[in-house]
Amino acid sequence: MKKILITGGAGYIGSHTAVALVDAGFEPVIIDNFSNSDKSVLSGLKHILGKDLSYYEGDCNDSTLLNKVFSENDFQGVIHFAAFKAVGESTQLPLKYYSNNIDSLLILLETMAAHGVKDLVFSSSCTVYGQPDVLPVSEDTPRQEAESPYGNTKKICEDILRDYIKSGVNSRIISLRYFNPVGAHPSGEIGELPLGVPNNLVPFITQTAMGIREKLTVFGNDYNTADGSCVRDYIHVMDLADAHVKALAYLSQQKDNFYDLFNVGTGNGNTVLEVIQTFEKISQLALNYHIGPRRPGDIEKVWASTEKIQKVLGWKPKYSLEDSIRDSWNWQQKLGEKV
Ligand code: WQD
Repeated sequence: MKKILITGGAGYIGSHTAVALVDAGFEPVIIDNFSNSDKSVLSGLKHILGKDLSYYEGDCNDSTLLNKVFSENDFQGVIHFAAFKAVGESTQLPLKYYSNNIDSLLILLETMAAHGVKDLVFSSSCTVYGQPDVLPVSEDTPRQEAESPYGNTKKICEDILRDYIKSGVNSRIISLRYFNPVGAHPSGEIGELPLGVPNNLVPFITQTAMGIREKLTVFGNDYNTADGSCVRDYIHVMDLADAHVKALAYLSQQKDNFYDLFNVGTGNGNTVLEVIQTFEKISQLALNYHIGPRRPGDIEKVWASTEKIQKVLGWKPKYSLEDSIRDSWNWQQKLGEKV
């Protein structure tokens, strides 16, 4: 069985990717410090998969632990999700973000090299594009000044990977630039588990509908878009998970010393108000929301060109925005009022 290490594998995207990996015949092994995830995810995974996944509790910055994990498992490759990712928090605690997000990658690369593990899929973000001048945004679109320390750690990590490969190592690496991950596994056994007040739109919508939040604030409707609210490319987390499986398969066919990067989005943009309207249609509920001021740091509109990933990895999205909202709402209802 082909073993894959998933750092941050108990997290939102990591846990859904674990399911996709098992479905594709891989054996995922999780390492997670549970700083932004919950052990209940492991039982959710067991319900879906019908078996326990092996996991290590700990930090990717802990090289002793990481060496132990690699000594105990013969990995074909690694998917690196583990990172702090709250945009707002990163502006308050930049050193926490720079040390955690960058040191963990450096320690992981060193440990992989020491154990002869070549293949790595890195979790990057469309945030590296900032506000693109031309849309849809392609991989050739120049990256812009990061809007936050979080976004800057993603840019810096991409540069580390590029320079590492340029140094001639035999590693084979892909960076995936995620657009906006939404939705949940159709079973409702796993999903997005924002700890505390959600930053992201869809969990805030579903928590408002559950009565956990009093009302949703739409951060501005005076943008130059169809209805004045911001546009994003909302991609179902299971489509995103599938992109990781396809990236690993592609890496296994490449020569040594390989690096490439791909956008992972649907290729469509939707406004905030369209997402709300979709939720109301799916749930048959009227959502309690109001229009508030713009959120500092928000860009106006972004959506992906998916030409490259479709052509090279043979990946394309299967789920629609309605599917994503349906699955998010199903997950929230199963969660109940738990926050
Ligand atoms: C989406 C839209 C908000 C909440 C960030 C990171 C990105 C990735 C996803 C980590 C925006 C609007 C939101 C609310 C609102 N993070 N909104 N009311 O900011 O596009 O992307 O999260 O990987 O890297 O940059 O996602 O869900 O926060 O916002 O009106 O209560 O919803 O203004 O237009 P964002 P988001």
